[in-house]
Amino acid sequence: MRNFTSVADVTDINALVNEALELKKNPFAYSQLGKQKTLGLIFLNPSLRTRLSSQKAATNLGMEAIVMNIDKEGWALETRDGVIMNGTTVEHIREAAGVMGQYFDVLGIRSFPGLQNRDEDYSEDILQKFIQFAKIPVVSLESGTRHPLQSLADLITITEHKIKARPKVVLTWAPHVKALPQAVPNSFAEWMSQADVDFVITHPKGYELAEEFTTGATITHNQEEALENADFIYVKNWSAFHDYGKILSTDAAWLLTNDRLKTTNQAKVMHCLPVRRDLELSAEILDGPNSLVIPEAANRVFAAQVVLKKILEANF
Ligand code: CP
Repeated sequence: MRNFTSVADVTDINALVNEALELKKNPFAYSQLGKQKTLGLIFLNPSLRTRLSSQKAATNLGMEAIVMNIDKEGWALETRDGVIMNGTTVEHIREAAGVMGQYFDVLGIRSFPGLQNRDEDYSEDILQKFIQFAKIPVVSLESGTRHPLQSLADLITITEHKIKARPKVVLTWAPHVKALPQAVPNSFAEWMSQADVDFVITHPKGYELAEEFTTGATITHNQEEALENADFIYVKNWSAFHDYGKILSTDAAWLLTNDRLKTTNQAKVMHCLPVRRDLELSAEILDGPNSLVIPEAANRVFAAQVVLKKILEANF
C-alpha cells in the first residue's frame, strides 16, 4: 500500500479487517516496525477521534506522530497554480507539502470540502496536491469526498458485532441544522458495496449521493421500510449532492428513536461522531443497549494502525 485515500487502495478488505482485529488483540506486536519513522498529521479542519486515534496507532507501532492544525497554526495556504500571491495566502501548497515530505515519512491530511463548488470538492484537489508535492505515502484523514479510516473502522465494528454471515446494513439520513459533507456516507457506501452485507440506503428525496459510491445498494425514500429486519443502522446527516451543499429538509420524522427499532433485528446503531443529541440521533438510543458508537470510535485506533502497518511494510 502506497497511499490510503479510498477502498480502492485495499486489495482485500476482509483480510485487512482480520489483520486489524489481530492488532486489537495484541496492539504492541509490531512496536518496532515504526521505530525512527515520523507520521505528520496535518489538519485543515477540527478533529477529536481522527487526531487522537492516529496518534495512538502510530505510538503502538513505535512511530513518532507530529500534529499540526495548519488552519490555525500555519501560514494561509495557496492551492491554485498561476496566481500572483498578492492577497491573503502566504505559502503555496507546492512548498508547504514539499517541506513536509522532508520532515515526515508518512503524511496524514484532513481537508473538508467547501460545499460551494462541487467540481472543485470532488476533484480532491488538495489531497491530490499533497500526494504530488510531498512525495511520501499519504493517508486521508477525511477529504472532500471520502473518510476511509472511518469506513474501515465501521467495517471492523460490523465484523466484530455481526451474528449472521450476511447482515442487513442500513444507512439512514438524519436531520441536522448545518450543511455537512457527503464524505462519510459516500465512503461508507463505497466500503459496504464491497463487504458481505445486504446494503440499503434511505434518505428524503433530493439527498441522492453520487452514483459512483452507491453501486449495488438498494435505495429507498421510505425509512420505515428500510429499517425492517435491519441488523445494523448507520445514522448520518449529509447535505445534498445534486443541489450541491444545500439543506433540503430538517424533518424531525427522520430522527431515529427506540420506537423505530421495533421492526429491526434488534439492530445495533452506529454513528461516526461527533453527533448532535436529539437532533441527529436520539439520546435514548445513544445511551441505550443498541448503541455501538463508543466501540466504533475505539476501532478507529486499529483501522489507523493496520493502515500504517501496511504502509510501513510496503515502503520502508
Ligand atoms: N469521526 C471522526 O472523524 O471524528 P473527528 O472529526 O472527531 O476526527
